[in-house]
Amino acid sequence: MVALDVVHASNARLRELGPGLVALFVGGTSGIGEFTLKAFVKNTISPRVYLVGRNASAADRIIEECHGLNKDGKVEFIKADVSELAEVDRVCKEIQKKEKAVNLLVQTQGNANLRGRDESPEGLDRKFTLNYYSRTRFISNLLPLLRTASTSPPNFARSVTILSAGSERAINLDDIELKHTFNGMRCANHTTTMNSLMTAEFAVKEPSITFSHTFPSVVNTGVARELPWWARGALKVLTPFFKPFFVGADETGQRQLFHATSGMYPPLKPAAGSPVAAGIPLPTGTAIATGSDGKVGSGGYLVNWNGDITGKKLVIDYQAEGVSKTIWEHTQGIFERVEKINEARA
Ligand SMILES: NC(=O)c1ccc[n+]([C@@H]2O[C@H](COP(=O)([O-])OP(=O)(O)OC[C@H]3O[C@@H](n4cnc5c(N)ncnc54)[C@H](OP(=O)(O)O)[C@@H]3O)[C@@H](O)[C@H]2O)c1
Repeated sequence: MVALDVVHASNARLRELGPGLVALFVGGTSGIGEFTLKAFVKNTISPRVYLVGRNASAADRIIEECHGLNKDGKVEFIKADVSELAEVDRVCKEIQKKEKAVNLLVQTQGNANLRGRDESPEGLDRKFTLNYYSRTRFISNLLPLLRTASTSPPNFARSVTILSAGSERAINLDDIELKHTFNGMRCANHTTTMNSLMTAEFAVKEPSITFSHTFPSVVNTGVARELPWWARGALKVLTPFFKPFFVGADETGQRQLFHATSGMYPPLKPAAGSPVAAGIPLPTGTAIATGSDGKVGSGGYLVNWNGDITGKKLVIDYQAEGVSKTIWEHTQGIFERVEKINEARA
Protein backbone atom coordinates (compact mmCIF):
# COMPACT_ATOMS: atom_id res chain seq x y z
CA MET A 1 0.00 0.00 0.00
CA VAL A 2 1.27 3.46 -0.89
CA ALA A 3 1.08 5.65 2.23
CA LEU A 4 -1.16 8.69 1.93
CA ASP A 5 1.68 11.10 2.76
CA VAL A 6 3.68 9.64 -0.16
CA VAL A 7 0.64 10.22 -2.39
CA HIS A 8 0.32 13.86 -1.27
CA ALA A 9 4.05 14.53 -1.66
CA SER A 10 4.08 13.05 -5.16
CA ASN A 11 1.01 15.01 -6.28
CA ALA A 12 2.51 18.25 -4.95
CA ARG A 13 5.44 17.70 -7.34
CA LEU A 14 3.09 17.88 -10.34
CA ARG A 15 3.92 21.60 -10.41
CA GLU A 16 7.38 20.55 -11.65
CA LEU A 17 5.73 19.64 -14.96
CA GLY A 18 5.25 23.35 -15.55
CA PRO A 19 2.21 25.38 -16.60
CA GLY A 20 -0.50 24.51 -19.09
CA LEU A 21 -1.05 20.76 -18.65
CA VAL A 22 -4.19 19.65 -20.50
CA ALA A 23 -6.53 17.06 -18.99
CA LEU A 24 -9.87 15.56 -19.98
CA PHE A 25 -12.22 14.09 -17.36
CA VAL A 26 -15.05 12.08 -18.90
CA GLY A 27 -17.55 11.54 -16.07
CA GLY A 28 -16.08 14.42 -14.08
CA THR A 29 -19.44 15.91 -13.10
CA SER A 30 -19.78 13.64 -10.05
CA GLY A 31 -18.02 11.22 -7.74
CA ILE A 32 -14.59 9.76 -8.39
CA GLY A 33 -14.07 11.75 -11.60
CA GLU A 34 -14.97 14.99 -9.83
CA PHE A 35 -12.68 14.22 -6.86
CA THR A 36 -9.76 13.39 -9.19
CA LEU A 37 -10.37 16.47 -11.34
CA LYS A 38 -10.25 18.69 -8.25
CA ALA A 39 -7.02 17.07 -7.03
CA PHE A 40 -5.51 17.70 -10.48
CA VAL A 41 -6.58 21.35 -10.56
CA LYS A 42 -5.31 21.91 -7.02
CA ASN A 43 -1.84 20.45 -7.73
CA THR A 44 -1.01 21.90 -11.17
CA ILE A 45 0.00 25.29 -12.58
CA SER A 46 -2.51 26.95 -14.94
CA PRO A 47 -4.09 23.65 -16.06
CA ARG A 48 -6.63 23.48 -18.90
CA VAL A 49 -9.31 20.96 -18.03
CA TYR A 50 -12.22 19.62 -20.08
CA LEU A 51 -15.12 18.18 -18.13
CA VAL A 52 -17.52 15.86 -19.97
CA GLY A 53 -20.93 14.71 -18.73
CA ARG A 54 -24.64 15.47 -19.09
CA ASN A 55 -25.32 17.48 -15.94
CA ALA A 56 -24.71 21.18 -16.68
CA SER A 57 -25.62 22.45 -13.19
CA ALA A 58 -23.14 20.02 -11.57
CA ALA A 59 -20.51 21.23 -14.05
CA ASP A 60 -21.22 24.89 -13.14
CA ARG A 61 -20.77 24.08 -9.45
CA ILE A 62 -17.49 22.20 -10.06
CA ILE A 63 -16.12 24.98 -12.28
CA GLU A 64 -16.82 27.51 -9.53
CA GLU A 65 -15.25 25.27 -6.85
CA CYS A 66 -12.17 24.74 -9.04
CA HIS A 67 -11.74 28.50 -9.36
CA GLY A 68 -11.47 28.55 -5.56
CA LEU A 69 -8.84 25.79 -5.68
CA ASN A 70 -6.68 27.37 -8.39
CA LYS A 71 -7.60 30.76 -9.83
CA ASP A 72 -5.23 30.26 -12.80
CA GLY A 73 -6.87 26.99 -13.83
CA LYS A 74 -9.39 26.88 -16.66
CA VAL A 75 -12.17 24.26 -16.58
CA GLU A 76 -14.53 23.98 -19.53
CA PHE A 77 -17.69 21.85 -19.68
CA ILE A 78 -18.57 19.84 -22.77
CA LYS A 79 -22.09 18.48 -22.45
CA ALA A 80 -22.47 15.03 -23.98
CA ASP A 81 -24.20 11.70 -23.53
CA VAL A 82 -21.29 9.37 -24.21
CA SER A 83 -23.42 6.22 -24.18
CA GLU A 84 -23.35 6.83 -27.96
CA LEU A 85 -20.06 6.73 -29.86
CA ALA A 86 -21.15 9.54 -32.21
CA GLU A 87 -21.14 11.80 -29.15
CA VAL A 88 -17.67 10.57 -28.17
CA ASP A 89 -16.47 11.50 -31.67
CA ARG A 90 -18.08 14.94 -31.44
CA VAL A 91 -16.40 15.67 -28.08
CA CYS A 92 -13.01 14.52 -29.40
CA LYS A 93 -13.35 16.75 -32.49
CA GLU A 94 -14.16 19.70 -30.24
CA ILE A 95 -11.03 19.05 -28.17
CA GLN A 96 -8.90 18.51 -31.28
CA LYS A 97 -9.97 21.98 -32.50
CA LYS A 98 -8.80 23.57 -29.23
CA GLU A 99 -5.73 21.56 -28.22
CA LYS A 100 -2.64 20.09 -29.88
CA ALA A 101 -1.84 17.81 -26.91
CA VAL A 102 -3.63 16.03 -24.08
CA ASN A 103 -1.47 15.08 -21.10
CA LEU A 104 -4.07 13.21 -19.09
CA LEU A 105 -7.29 11.37 -19.96
CA VAL A 106 -9.35 10.13 -16.97
CA GLN A 107 -12.56 8.18 -17.59
CA THR A 108 -15.24 7.35 -15.00
CA GLN A 109 -18.46 7.48 -17.05
CA GLY A 110 -20.93 4.88 -15.83
CA ASN A 111 -23.94 4.06 -13.70
CA ALA A 112 -25.25 1.31 -11.44
CA ASN A 113 -28.77 1.00 -12.84
CA LEU A 114 -30.50 -2.37 -12.86
CA ARG A 115 -32.03 -2.01 -16.30
CA GLY A 116 -31.54 -4.93 -18.64
CA ARG A 117 -30.05 -4.49 -22.09
CA ASP A 118 -30.72 -0.90 -23.14
CA GLU A 119 -29.86 -0.65 -26.80
CA SER A 120 -28.97 2.71 -28.33
CA PRO A 121 -29.65 3.55 -32.00
CA GLU A 122 -26.03 2.49 -32.58
CA GLY A 123 -27.04 -1.10 -31.68
CA LEU A 124 -24.95 -1.26 -28.48
CA ASP A 125 -26.02 -1.54 -24.86
CA ARG A 126 -25.62 1.87 -23.19
CA LYS A 127 -24.05 0.60 -19.94
CA PHE A 128 -21.60 -1.60 -21.86
CA THR A 129 -20.75 1.42 -23.99
CA LEU A 130 -20.19 3.68 -20.96
CA ASN A 131 -17.97 1.10 -19.27
CA TYR A 132 -15.98 0.00 -22.28
CA TYR A 133 -16.66 1.05 -25.90
CA SER A 134 -16.83 4.81 -25.17
CA ARG A 135 -13.67 4.62 -23.07
CA THR A 136 -11.72 2.76 -25.76
CA ARG A 137 -13.08 5.13 -28.39
CA PHE A 138 -11.93 8.20 -26.41
CA ILE A 139 -8.46 6.70 -26.11
CA SER A 140 -8.31 5.75 -29.81
CA ASN A 141 -9.54 9.15 -31.02
CA LEU A 142 -7.22 11.09 -28.74
CA LEU A 143 -4.06 9.03 -29.39
CA PRO A 144 -2.61 11.72 -31.72
CA LEU A 145 -2.96 14.31 -28.92
CA LEU A 146 -1.58 11.94 -26.28
CA ARG A 147 1.37 11.16 -28.59
CA THR A 148 2.05 14.88 -29.03
CA ALA A 149 2.00 15.26 -25.24
CA SER A 150 4.57 12.46 -24.96
CA THR A 151 6.90 13.99 -27.54
CA SER A 152 6.77 17.64 -26.45
CA PRO A 153 7.88 19.02 -23.06
CA PRO A 154 7.23 17.93 -20.37
CA ASN A 155 6.80 14.63 -22.29
CA PHE A 156 3.99 13.42 -20.09
CA ALA A 157 0.98 11.44 -21.41
CA ARG A 158 -1.34 9.11 -19.53
CA SER A 159 -4.73 7.44 -19.81
CA VAL A 160 -6.63 6.10 -16.79
CA THR A 161 -9.91 4.20 -16.84
CA ILE A 162 -11.47 3.81 -13.38
CA LEU A 163 -13.74 0.78 -13.07
CA SER A 164 -12.95 -2.55 -11.39
CA ALA A 165 -9.38 -3.68 -12.04
CA GLY A 166 -8.79 -6.90 -10.14
CA SER A 167 -12.32 -8.27 -10.68
CA GLU A 168 -11.69 -9.80 -14.10
CA ARG A 169 -13.83 -12.79 -15.08
CA ALA A 170 -14.09 -15.03 -18.14
CA ILE A 171 -15.52 -13.53 -21.34
CA ASN A 172 -18.15 -15.34 -23.41
CA LEU A 173 -16.34 -15.19 -26.74
CA ASP A 174 -19.51 -16.25 -28.60
CA ASP A 175 -21.29 -13.08 -27.47
CA ILE A 176 -18.64 -10.53 -26.54
CA GLU A 177 -20.98 -7.50 -26.74
CA LEU A 178 -23.73 -9.45 -24.87
CA LYS A 179 -26.29 -8.92 -27.59
CA HIS A 180 -28.06 -12.18 -26.71
CA THR A 181 -26.94 -12.99 -23.15
CA PHE A 182 -26.95 -9.62 -21.38
CA ASN A 183 -27.36 -9.21 -17.66
CA GLY A 184 -25.82 -6.69 -15.26
CA MET A 185 -23.26 -9.09 -13.81
CA ARG A 186 -22.04 -10.27 -17.21
CA CYS A 187 -21.84 -6.67 -18.38
CA ALA A 188 -19.64 -5.82 -15.36
CA ASN A 189 -17.49 -8.93 -15.94
CA HIS A 190 -16.99 -8.39 -19.69
CA THR A 191 -16.29 -4.67 -19.45
CA THR A 192 -13.89 -5.08 -16.51
CA THR A 193 -11.87 -7.79 -18.25
CA MET A 194 -11.90 -5.93 -21.57
CA ASN A 195 -10.63 -2.71 -19.93
CA SER A 196 -7.86 -4.71 -18.27
CA LEU A 197 -6.81 -6.47 -21.48
CA MET A 198 -6.68 -3.20 -23.40
CA THR A 199 -4.15 -1.65 -20.99
CA ALA A 200 -1.47 -4.07 -22.24
CA GLU A 201 -2.58 -3.84 -25.90
CA PHE A 202 -2.39 -0.03 -25.92
CA ALA A 203 0.84 0.03 -23.88
CA VAL A 204 2.72 -2.05 -26.47
CA LYS A 205 1.30 -0.12 -29.43
CA GLU A 206 1.90 3.30 -27.80
CA PRO A 207 5.10 2.86 -25.77
CA SER A 208 5.48 6.52 -24.75
CA ILE A 209 2.07 6.61 -23.01
CA THR A 210 0.97 4.91 -19.76
CA PHE A 211 -2.42 3.13 -19.77
CA SER A 212 -3.96 2.16 -16.42
CA HIS A 213 -7.18 0.52 -15.27
CA THR A 214 -7.85 1.18 -11.59
CA PHE A 215 -10.29 0.07 -8.89
CA PRO A 216 -11.41 2.85 -6.50
CA SER A 217 -12.69 0.57 -3.66
CA VAL A 218 -16.02 1.70 -2.16
CA VAL A 219 -16.56 5.44 -2.42
CA ASN A 220 -19.68 7.37 -1.45
CA THR A 221 -20.70 9.00 -4.78
CA GLY A 222 -23.72 9.55 -6.98
CA VAL A 223 -23.33 6.14 -8.64
CA ALA A 224 -26.60 4.83 -7.12
CA ARG A 225 -28.76 7.64 -8.53
CA GLU A 226 -30.18 5.53 -11.35
CA LEU A 227 -31.09 2.57 -9.10
CA PRO A 228 -34.80 1.88 -8.45
CA TRP A 229 -36.29 3.60 -5.36
CA TRP A 230 -36.24 0.45 -3.21
CA ALA A 231 -32.53 -0.14 -3.85
CA ARG A 232 -31.69 3.51 -3.14
CA GLY A 233 -33.72 3.25 0.09
CA ALA A 234 -31.87 0.11 1.18
CA LEU A 235 -28.51 1.77 0.45
CA LYS A 236 -29.50 4.83 2.47
CA VAL A 237 -30.22 2.64 5.48
CA LEU A 238 -27.05 0.55 5.12
CA THR A 239 -24.59 3.34 4.22
CA PRO A 240 -23.97 4.59 7.82
CA PHE A 241 -22.95 1.05 8.89
CA PHE A 242 -20.42 0.70 6.07
CA LYS A 243 -19.17 4.29 6.07
CA PRO A 244 -16.07 3.47 8.16
CA PHE A 245 -14.92 1.19 5.31
CA PHE A 246 -15.43 3.79 2.54
CA VAL A 247 -12.51 5.67 0.98
CA GLY A 248 -13.20 9.39 1.45
CA ALA A 249 -13.69 11.88 -1.37
CA ASP A 250 -10.42 13.77 -0.93
CA GLU A 251 -8.36 10.60 -0.44
CA THR A 252 -9.94 9.03 -3.53
CA GLY A 253 -9.13 12.09 -5.67
CA GLN A 254 -5.54 12.24 -4.41
CA ARG A 255 -4.96 8.49 -4.81
CA GLN A 256 -6.42 8.32 -8.33
CA LEU A 257 -4.28 11.34 -9.29
CA PHE A 258 -1.24 9.50 -7.91
CA HIS A 259 -2.07 6.39 -9.98
CA ALA A 260 -2.39 8.70 -12.99
CA THR A 261 0.92 10.50 -12.55
CA SER A 262 3.43 8.59 -10.42
CA GLY A 263 6.70 7.16 -11.73
CA MET A 264 5.60 3.87 -10.14
CA TYR A 265 3.60 3.37 -13.36
CA PRO A 266 5.87 4.54 -16.19
CA PRO A 267 5.23 4.11 -19.92
CA LEU A 268 7.08 1.25 -21.63
CA LYS A 269 9.53 3.68 -23.28
CA PRO A 270 9.49 7.13 -21.65
CA ALA A 271 10.90 9.93 -23.81
CA ALA A 272 14.64 10.40 -23.28
CA GLY A 273 15.95 13.59 -21.70
CA SER A 274 12.84 14.52 -19.71
CA PRO A 275 13.00 14.07 -15.92
CA VAL A 276 9.23 13.47 -15.71
CA ALA A 277 8.51 11.41 -18.85
CA ALA A 278 8.35 8.32 -16.62
CA GLY A 279 6.09 10.13 -14.15
CA ILE A 280 6.69 11.97 -10.90
CA PRO A 281 9.97 10.49 -9.61
CA LEU A 282 9.57 7.76 -7.01
CA PRO A 283 10.63 8.22 -3.39
CA THR A 284 13.76 6.20 -2.53
CA GLY A 285 12.95 2.59 -1.74
CA THR A 286 9.79 2.45 -3.88
CA ALA A 287 9.77 0.08 -6.84
CA ILE A 288 8.41 0.44 -10.36
CA ALA A 289 5.19 -1.56 -10.68
CA THR A 290 4.59 -4.74 -12.66
CA GLY A 291 2.42 -4.28 -15.74
CA SER A 292 -0.68 -6.21 -16.77
CA ASP A 293 1.51 -8.45 -18.97
CA GLY A 294 3.49 -9.55 -15.88
CA LYS A 295 6.60 -7.51 -16.76
CA VAL A 296 8.00 -4.69 -14.65
CA GLY A 297 7.41 -1.20 -16.09
CA SER A 298 5.63 -2.41 -19.23
CA GLY A 299 3.33 0.62 -19.52
CA GLY A 300 -0.12 -0.96 -18.90
CA TYR A 301 -1.15 -1.32 -15.25
CA LEU A 302 -4.00 -2.73 -13.16
CA VAL A 303 -4.02 -0.70 -9.96
CA ASN A 304 -5.90 -1.28 -6.72
CA TRP A 305 -7.38 1.67 -4.77
CA ASN A 306 -4.26 1.85 -2.54
CA GLY A 307 -1.65 1.89 -5.32
CA ASP A 308 -0.86 -1.84 -5.20
CA ILE A 309 -0.91 -3.84 -8.39
CA THR A 310 -3.97 -6.07 -8.80
CA GLY A 311 -5.47 -8.18 -11.61
CA LYS A 312 -6.40 -11.84 -11.98
CA LYS A 313 -4.09 -14.44 -13.59
CA LEU A 314 -6.81 -14.67 -16.26
CA VAL A 315 -5.49 -11.41 -17.75
CA ILE A 316 -2.05 -12.93 -18.39
CA ASP A 317 -3.60 -16.21 -19.62
CA TYR A 318 -5.86 -14.32 -22.04
CA GLN A 319 -2.85 -12.50 -23.49
CA ALA A 320 -0.98 -15.79 -23.98
CA GLU A 321 -4.05 -17.48 -25.53
CA GLY A 322 -4.72 -14.67 -28.02
CA VAL A 323 -8.00 -13.58 -26.39
CA SER A 324 -6.61 -10.10 -25.88
CA LYS A 325 -5.97 -9.81 -29.63
CA THR A 326 -9.51 -11.11 -30.27
CA ILE A 327 -10.94 -8.35 -28.03
CA TRP A 328 -8.83 -5.72 -29.80
CA GLU A 329 -10.12 -6.89 -33.19
CA HIS A 330 -13.70 -7.15 -31.87
CA THR A 331 -13.47 -3.54 -30.66
CA GLN A 332 -12.17 -2.26 -34.02
CA GLY A 333 -15.01 -4.22 -35.69
CA ILE A 334 -17.60 -2.60 -33.42
CA PHE A 335 -16.18 0.85 -34.23
CA GLU A 336 -16.43 0.17 -37.98
CA ARG A 337 -19.98 -1.19 -37.62
CA VAL A 338 -21.13 1.83 -35.60
CA GLU A 339 -19.46 4.27 -38.02
CA LYS A 340 -21.50 2.72 -40.86
CA ILE A 341 -24.72 2.93 -38.80
CA ASN A 342 -24.02 6.57 -38.00
CA GLU A 343 -23.23 7.40 -41.64
CA ALA A 344 -26.58 5.89 -42.60
CA ARG A 345 -28.34 7.82 -39.80
CA ALA A 346 -26.73 11.08 -40.93
N1 LIG B 1 -18.32 4.50 -6.20
C1 LIG B 1 -17.83 3.30 -6.02
O1 LIG B 1 -17.75 2.79 -4.89
C2 LIG B 1 -17.31 2.51 -7.19
C3 LIG B 1 -16.74 1.25 -6.94
C4 LIG B 1 -16.24 0.53 -8.03
C5 LIG B 1 -16.30 1.04 -9.31
N2 LIG B 1 -16.88 2.26 -9.52
C6 LIG B 1 -16.92 2.77 -10.90
O2 LIG B 1 -16.27 4.02 -10.98
C7 LIG B 1 -16.87 4.81 -12.01
C8 LIG B 1 -17.27 6.16 -11.43
O3 LIG B 1 -18.23 5.95 -10.44
P1 LIG B 1 -18.70 7.05 -9.41
O4 LIG B 1 -18.92 6.32 -8.15
O5 LIG B 1 -17.82 8.21 -9.44
O6 LIG B 1 -20.14 7.40 -10.01
P2 LIG B 1 -20.91 8.79 -10.24
O7 LIG B 1 -20.71 9.68 -9.07
O8 LIG B 1 -22.29 8.42 -10.60
O9 LIG B 1 -20.16 9.39 -11.52
C9 LIG B 1 -20.40 8.85 -12.79
C10 LIG B 1 -20.10 9.90 -13.83
O10 LIG B 1 -20.44 9.34 -15.11
C11 LIG B 1 -21.15 10.31 -15.84
N3 LIG B 1 -22.09 9.68 -16.76
C12 LIG B 1 -23.01 8.72 -16.49
N4 LIG B 1 -23.72 8.44 -17.59
C13 LIG B 1 -23.24 9.26 -18.57
C14 LIG B 1 -23.58 9.44 -19.93
N5 LIG B 1 -24.56 8.74 -20.52
N6 LIG B 1 -22.89 10.36 -20.66
C15 LIG B 1 -21.90 11.09 -20.06
N7 LIG B 1 -21.52 10.95 -18.79
C16 LIG B 1 -22.20 10.04 -18.04
C17 LIG B 1 -21.92 11.12 -14.80
O11 LIG B 1 -22.16 12.42 -15.32
P3 LIG B 1 -23.60 13.02 -15.75
O12 LIG B 1 -24.61 12.53 -14.77
O13 LIG B 1 -23.34 14.49 -15.75
O14 LIG B 1 -23.82 12.51 -17.14
C18 LIG B 1 -20.90 11.18 -13.67
O15 LIG B 1 -20.04 12.28 -13.85
C19 LIG B 1 -18.07 4.02 -12.52
O16 LIG B 1 -17.70 3.34 -13.68
C20 LIG B 1 -18.34 3.02 -11.39
O17 LIG B 1 -18.93 1.84 -11.85
C21 LIG B 1 -17.38 3.01 -8.49
